[in-house]
Amino acid sequence: MKIAVLPGDGIGPEIVAEAVKVLHALDLSFELETAPVGGAAYAALGHPLPESTLKLAQESDAILFGAVGDWKYDTLDRHLRPEQAILGLRKNLGLFANFRPAICYEQLVNASSLKPELVAGLDILIIRELTGDIYFGQPRGRRIAADGHFPGAEEAFDTMRYSRPEIERIAHVAFQAARKRSKRVTSVDKANVLETFQFWKDVVTEVSLQYPDVTLDHMYVDNAAMQLVKAPKKFDVIVTGNMFGDILSDEASMLTGSIGMLPSASLNANNKGLYEPSHGSAPDIAGKGIANPLATILSAAMMLRFSLNQLDSAQRIENAVSKVLAQGLRTADIYSEGTTRVSTIEMGDAVVKALR
Ligand code: IPM
Ligand code: MG
Repeated sequence: MKIAVLPGDGIGPEIVAEAVKVLHALDLSFELETAPVGGAAYAALGHPLPESTLKLAQESDAILFGAVGDWKYDTLDRHLRPEQAILGLRKNLGLFANFRPAICYEQLVNASSLKPELVAGLDILIIRELTGDIYFGQPRGRRIAADGHFPGAEEAFDTMRYSRPEIERIAHVAFQAARKRSKRVTSVDKANVLETFQFWKDVVTEVSLQYPDVTLDHMYVDNAAMQLVKAPKKFDVIVTGNMFGDILSDEASMLTGSIGMLPSASLNANNKGLYEPSHGSAPDIAGKGIANPLATILSAAMMLRFSLNQLDSAQRIENAVSKVLAQGLRTADIYSEGTTRVSTIEMGDAVVKALR
């Protein structure tokens, strides 16, 4: 088993180091190879996704990814910005199925910005399509408007699009995931306004006929955003497009107490996967030793389960995370009175200890 380790920018290196520590503590044999990505790769090699890093990712069985992005690079041309690294990996490896579970650990109900009774026991799974939609649609660019409200004015445009096979394959992923849970899927769209999402809704409905045991409902994205903070436990599996999934998964993360708790898996058709925390590079807290490594550690658990077929080890990590939370250990983002504040490294060490 070969794992590509891509720490990236900001807090990326700190949190990935803790996840690597946890992986080593499992006594499994795998080869880990580290490569630069994002702003760090631009600084070292002149490109956010260097050929050598992409090649390593392609040759590995799985990829453990930290985070990319730093204000330092915001003025670069778009194709050189750190974010292009993660977008390029998703596209090049065909990682179309993004799993973002939002689970509220019993010990963290008070860390959520919502009332404890709304989030206690929360366990939802957002399945975000990751290689299509307005994120990748062509054409896009800037031009002088030929028509519209201000002909002759400078304008920018992007293209929202989904093909039938793209919708079908993510719908299958969602229905299959729902079968292993409470057999309910909510498809989130904007069919009342957008052609792309009327098509999305139609195709998801067609695919659902192959899963008579799973209940499908549809919700407009604005309503879904509201329901997520009103009654989040009504959801089980949510399937949606790339952009809506980006937004709703950040929203859902806060239900769990902190975005620092949310892992993710991005899989291609062969179950090859990239595993990363759902949060970003947080350059404002980088290097201070206060970042929460749990989302990355839990992403490593997802990697063991989905790509490396090490179900026991995955479960051991998840149990260890529960245990350290039960011991009252908290990084700054999930700290509350009466708990013990620990650093990034101390949290990683505690997870390793809890594994034993
Ligand atoms: C995410 C991030 C990325 C996205 C950025 C960094 C390009 O927000 O993984 O959710 O928009 O997909
Ligand atoms: Mg996002």
